[in-house]
Amino acid sequence: MYITKKLINFVLKGIGIDRINRLFQRADVRYEIARKGATYYNYYWHKAKKKIDLRDFDDFWETATQVIQDQRTIHYYDRLYVLWQAVLNLPSSDYPVAEVGTYKGGTAKFIREALRTNGYQNKFFVFDTFEGHAVVDERWDGRHYVGNFSDTSYEEVKAYLNAPDITIHKGNFLETAQLIDRITNFGMVHIDVDVYPVIKFCLDFFEKHTLPGSIIIVDDYGNRNCKGAKKAVDEYVEDNAFFLMFYLLSGQALLVKVQ
Ligand SMILES: C[S@@+](CC[C@H](N)C(=O)[O-])C[C@H]1O[C@@H](n2cnc3c(N)ncnc32)[C@H](O)[C@@H]1O
Repeated sequence: MYITKKLINFVLKGIGIDRINRLFQRADVRYEIARKGATYYNYYWHKAKKKIDLRDFDDFWETATQVIQDQRTIHYYDRLYVLWQAVLNLPSSDYPVAEVGTYKGGTAKFIREALRTNGYQNKFFVFDTFEGHAVVDERWDGRHYVGNFSDTSYEEVKAYLNAPDITIHKGNFLETAQLIDRITNFGMVHIDVDVYPVIKFCLDFFEKHTLPGSIIIVDDYGNRNCKGAKKAVDEYVEDNAFFLMFYLLSGQALLVKVQ
């Protein structure tokens, strides 16, 4: 009897019953991960099965899944989880949050839901031209062009966000930034504008509008199609000692203000 039990366990372990179960439970996610190049960059997934499974963080997973299913963001779970953690690191509701580069509203919706789900009431300001890129630097911004990402609108995003507590500013951030000039204690800033001149401007601007402990996330730092993002961040941190910078394997740059 004991030997039979042992034998059954051995066989089940051998065929990886747990793996098969998971495959059927979350086939959609597994497929996405495989399709998006796990085989090319397998060092990202080294010993992945030993790592914490984001699907077990119910609040995060539900919030992220909703936004991904709405098809209004280019972000996937990895980058959304970075934004989630940035929200969790806000010291209180007294520190406003900003996003520059909102496009169809996906990440803004996610940040807003992350704030509310975790009991925060922070003011939230979002910025976009809602007419695509206003300015690019052809030397660094590659395939990006003026008007890129124009398939959206202020009205549509306002309706999607459907939150009177979010302030939405339409226009080129190089001009609309002045609308928040009086706010000097942003606790979290999400910069997702892809291109060199705007990221450079954002970093200079938010240096003066954040406090020690504030977090800035710059999207696309590690995206080979957005070389201007990396250049803007690298130049900024080389010339300024205000922020520690971490390159995350999600592709984002995480900047933490230290002085
Ligand atoms: C990649 S999309 C943002 C994606 C979005 N965060 C999401 O949910 O995935 C980049 C956005 O940056 C905006 N943008 C680029 N330059 C800008 C500028 N100078 N002022 C305001 N918005 C700008 C574009 O209009 C575009 O909507």
